[in-house]
Amino acid sequence: MSEQPLCILGVESSCDETAAAVVVDGVRCLSNVIASQVEIHARFGGIVPEVASRQHILAIVPTIRRAIAEAGVDWPDLAAVAVTRGPGLAGSLLVGVNAAKAIAFARGLPLIGVNHLEAHVYANWLTDAEIEFPLICLIVSGAHSDLVLMTDHLQYRLIGRSRDDASGEAFDKVARILGLGYPGGPAIQRAAESGDPTKLKLPRAWLPDSYDFSFSGLKTAVLRVVDRRAELGLSVEDVAASFQESVVDVLVEKTRRAAAEFGARQCLLAGGVAANALLRGQMRARAGLPVVCPPLEYCTDNAAMVAAAGHRRYLAGDVSSLELDVTPRLRLT
Ligand code: KG4
Ligand code: ZN
Repeated sequence: MSEQPLCILGVESSCDETAAAVVVDGVRCLSNVIASQVEIHARFGGIVPEVASRQHILAIVPTIRRAIAEAGVDWPDLAAVAVTRGPGLAGSLLVGVNAAKAIAFARGLPLIGVNHLEAHVYANWLTDAEIEFPLICLIVSGAHSDLVLMTDHLQYRLIGRSRDDASGEAFDKVARILGLGYPGGPAIQRAAESGDPTKLKLPRAWLPDSYDFSFSGLKTAVLRVVDRRAELGLSVEDVAASFQESVVDVLVEKTRRAAAEFGARQCLLAGGVAANALLRGQMRARAGLPVVCPPLEYCTDNAAMVAAAGHRRYLAGDVSSLELDVTPRLRLT
């Protein structure tokens, strides 16, 4: 018996990107529209929550309209609407959730509330890769650095997490210290390309006998070096390269060890920091088993990943009611 393809509209507004996408069967992306607010927030050196929610209000309807048009589908083709319900900024989340509710109500479609972190994980299913369980997934975003064991679809066990700054947050803060602007991750990666990481050895917080991470000490170490940069003969690029190397070294080593201890068959990367070229390269070189990374456009916030995760939840019968609320501090486990 051939089953009907499931066409899901994904909506994302948890932080500073208003996004909508149409994905078939959780794997085939027909459209992926992102209205970015980066330029607006860059003026403030970081995200201003009230500005973000107002921008979502302006962008949400045109973004959803474009996603439907670019996908070449029509409203009756949709099987469900999936939307990020947390974690994220409350005022931002509310815009996407209310838009998705309105669509679900008007079209009589199932509404699926999605965890943003789960969406980052499911961005990996938007590749051609054959994914096998058990696997270790390193989720590295602006607010999270989580090491997760997945034994099956939607089954997560938290193995380690950041005790202070998330890795993306560390990239953003260090970029600010170095005067490289916002968002920090891509700026540091760019600067590091012309830097020499061997000129400066920055600390690594190994936290023995734990898979947890800590990046605040590293940030403080950068702060101390910056004032004496000229005297030490270091360029901004050298410091950026050393910082990036230190973060990546810890992320890769802990993921490698966890994969070995828990008998993982694969390692997955997820979240904005998964776009980092050194992290992707080092993980592939050192993990000792197959590594799957989302394509770059699905690493940072987007709605295709929300539709992909929504598809899995839909198959599991995990449909939300129209009373769905946002949960700014929602966790994966
Ligand atoms: O997943 P994401 O788009 O948003 C959250 O859910 O937080 O992640 C954003 C984070 C930011 O901290 C940004 O600096 C970082 O991902 N990021 C990167 C790169 N691209 C984005 N960090 C390192 N290297 C990159 N190429
Ligand atoms: Zn994200």
